[in-house]
Amino acid sequence: MFLTLEGIDFSGKSTQAKMLVDALSAERAVCFLREPGGTPISERIRTILLDKKNLELTDRAELLLFSASRAQLVAGVIRPALARGEIVICDRYYDSTTAYQGAGRGLPMDAVRAINAFATDGLAPDLTLFIDIPVDEIERRRAAAGKGFDRMEAAGREFFRRVRDGYCALAAAEPHRFVRIDGTRTPGDVHAEVMAALTASPLYQLHTP
Ligand code: TYD
Repeated sequence: MFLTLEGIDFSGKSTQAKMLVDALSAERAVCFLREPGGTPISERIRTILLDKKNLELTDRAELLLFSASRAQLVAGVIRPALARGEIVICDRYYDSTTAYQGAGRGLPMDAVRAINAFATDGLAPDLTLFIDIPVDEIERRRAAAGKGFDRMEAAGREFFRRVRDGYCALAAAEPHRFVRIDGTRTPGDVHAEVMAALTASPLYQLHTP
């Protein structure tokens, strides 16, 4: 089974991914990955993508680099893990490209969709958990974290508004694959909803030992 987590920056998605992996690893083989990254080549591409010095990176080059990183991850890690019968949990996947590069940067959606399909050779997630927070929450969480921003996080509020709208449109278009989860509650409450969404999925039930 192939499960992905999605959401805007500071949605708490990565915390949820870790909690989910901890909960499942006790009784089954779990392959946990994050995008961009997950293979040596993909991690090198990640460095280029997140480096604040790379201000001249064009939107199209950005889209292709995220997709190149993913192509390597799908062929080298995700497909082999699925073939071994593992549950693959990926923190971000091609819906991030549709939301950030398509809706956020405004690149043509038909091209984004075609490149997503090409990079993954058509591998779609079975279930996608969209951890949703309002855009204003980004500012609050960013201030509380007190960290610097990477190249992507440095984008402004309007950009993140478009990205969130992009996710909402994806969730509406594919209601069988997407589950929207309110990310404004405590990590424990969000985790409970994540587990409920997963255990309700017919594919998960099929894979339950
Ligand atoms: P990361 O530090 O991993 O952020 P997060 O914990 O929020 O996932 O950085 C990934 C950044 O790259 C994040 O800002 C989202 C962005 N991104 C895209 O713009 N397109 C993509 O296809 C992917 C996978 C990520």
